[in-house]
Amino acid sequence: MSTIDASSLSFAKDSSENDNLALIQCRYKDMLITCPKEKGWVSENLYMYQGFWHFSNISYDVFSIEAMMAIQNTFQAQPTDIYLITLPKSGTTWIKAVTYAIVNRERYKNSTLSSHPLLAYNPHKCVPFLETEVFGKTSVYVDGCLPRLFATHIPYTSLLQSILDSGCRIVYMCRNPKDVLVSLFHFTNKLRDKSRCQMAFDEAFEMFSKGIMPYGPYWDHVKGYYNFSLEHPKSILFLTYEDMKEDTVNRVKHIAEFLGYPFTKEEEARGVVGEIVRLCGFKSLSEVNKHGDFREGVPNDAFFREGKVGDWRKHLTDEMTKVLTQITEQKFHGMDISFEVGAHVQN
Ligand code: A3P
Repeated sequence: MSTIDASSLSFAKDSSENDNLALIQCRYKDMLITCPKEKGWVSENLYMYQGFWHFSNISYDVFSIEAMMAIQNTFQAQPTDIYLITLPKSGTTWIKAVTYAIVNRERYKNSTLSSHPLLAYNPHKCVPFLETEVFGKTSVYVDGCLPRLFATHIPYTSLLQSILDSGCRIVYMCRNPKDVLVSLFHFTNKLRDKSRCQMAFDEAFEMFSKGIMPYGPYWDHVKGYYNFSLEHPKSILFLTYEDMKEDTVNRVKHIAEFLGYPFTKEEEARGVVGEIVRLCGFKSLSEVNKHGDFREGVPNDAFFREGKVGDWRKHLTDEMTKVLTQITEQKFHGMDISFEVGAHVQN
């Protein structure tokens, strides 16, 4: 393959979408009024629904509580689907790239170096979010290739019954809450509308500690999927960003095996794993996404900042560190989860 077929990576829109969106908005408007509301990060407000904070203000390609409600009622998962679930700023872009590269490696096997989609497009273009690109679209996902790959930030308590019933595979990735806070803080200030002032780190810390963040509380999101992974280890692979960073080669192999796409000995000998690690590495992806916009108001480079473990040390005061450590210890009490490099999270 010498050129990339961009149409195979776009998510279809059709003329009925406006009607769909109007219907959805109307249907869920009354429900929204009853939801508790708080000031938002990038968006103006966040709304509490089924124990978690969500955006509102439905529009094309923007996450919203209405979209989630709509797909809860309409989306049909298939047993061959793969769902990548994260909290924002936990490495979503990275896990999208890695999974896309793993399951599509046959398809792009003969592509020249420069023709792999991940060398031309943002990983968010390759793997759609359920609650943005997918909802409200009648044709859902045009890629046409199996397996269908989707991502979502939806918390476990609101996860679609159809996904739980389908027997499909789920990969969940979480990250040290302190690094999620720092990453979300920078992302927010990069994306905030010019009419709103920049967020101060103190404010970000306050909100995060109270659990107020998109799809938060952080701890409840992680715990929900952690418990699910204990009950259904064959359905869900629970990973941490830190573990992925520390041993990317083995994690990539592990993900491939879990998804039913193990690397053959011959592939390993040819260095395919290493190629995927490099293709999806921070250096490569941040270079590819240096310019352009993912969508209006969201530059491609907003998803790539430092890509490091422990950047929180440059931002959090001792007091802030103490507070977040205490909350995490209390909330994750009894859970075998660690964000220390060198720690082992579930194999
Ligand atoms: P930082 O802001 O700490 O640098 P998400 O994709 O969930 O929005 O998360 C974004 C975070 O993941 C950012 O963290 C970003 O730099 C980091 N990231 C993006 N691509 C990455 C990659 N290929 N490897 C490691 N980290 C990556």
